[in-house]
Amino acid sequence: MSEPRFAVFGHPIAHSLSPRIHAAFGKQLGVPLQYTAIDAPPETFAAQLDAFGKAGGSGANITLPHKQAVLALCAHVSDFARRAGAVNTLTRRLDGHWRGDNTDGAGLVRDIAQRHGLDLRERRGLLLGAGGAARAAAFALLDAGVAELTIVNRTPERADALADAIGEPDRVRTRYWDALGTLGNFELIVNATSAGHTRQSLRLPFALVAPRALCYDLSYGMTASAFLAWARAAKAGFAYDGLGMLIEQAAESFAIWHGRRPDTDVVYDEFRGELPLHASD
Ligand code: ATR
Repeated sequence: MSEPRFAVFGHPIAHSLSPRIHAAFGKQLGVPLQYTAIDAPPETFAAQLDAFGKAGGSGANITLPHKQAVLALCAHVSDFARRAGAVNTLTRRLDGHWRGDNTDGAGLVRDIAQRHGLDLRERRGLLLGAGGAARAAAFALLDAGVAELTIVNRTPERADALADAIGEPDRVRTRYWDALGTLGNFELIVNATSAGHTRQSLRLPFALVAPRALCYDLSYGMTASAFLAWARAAKAGFAYDGLGMLIEQAAESFAIWHGRRPDTDVVYDEFRGELPLHASD
């Protein structure tokens, strides 16, 4: 019997680390698998996914720009993915239909709490951005016990829509980007904008950063470098990129598909060597 087939769908996808991460997990646990990257522009994504399933594909990761659109292609969606409004993991059921999960939120919390050993509970949090990545982060951080979350987005209506979807007005508020200098400081600042992808600078006030604050960018490598440089200049206690989150979300997907969770530390160390992080802790 041939190896079970998995893939990550996105556009662009050439630089995805997911095939290497899943290959490393499979090797570590002796799980045979094939995992490829499939470039899928929005116009043909649904047809490509359908063809992958019909050809025997067992599961898939979904990344930009399809995480929200893929919800409509799932026969069943987990509660967290439904709340986040985004799916990053598909599993083909026996009836041929897809089940959708979202492991991004669990990956984020696991990276912060377990790899970096930081307690999220009771932190006053600031979330920059209100797109697909921000939505999963917001629900996961609130589930993990952050005391309150202020959501600031360049387009304020999207921040309001996210706050409405969360529905916890006592813990979650939105503010205008122009007001960032007036909000006081935060013990947790999460950059969920895609500004780094286009090398745009966010121009954030240093006063946002509380002593010992954790600043976290959901992206990794060069894309995160401007935000992390800002965080270090503002004397944040901890400044991390999202490489650990990427590896932890992959491990959660792997566990859904194969029933076993790999040791992520060895894989993290391997990739960290290629993408150095000049952490300030
Ligand atoms: P993703 O799935 O990565 O979240 P997305 O849904 O396109 O992608 O969301 C991108 C996020 O980055 C949005 O919050 C976007 O703000 P808008 O809603 O105003 O578009 C934010 N973003 C992108 N470039 C930005 C910039 N230069 N400054 C501030 N926010 C930016």
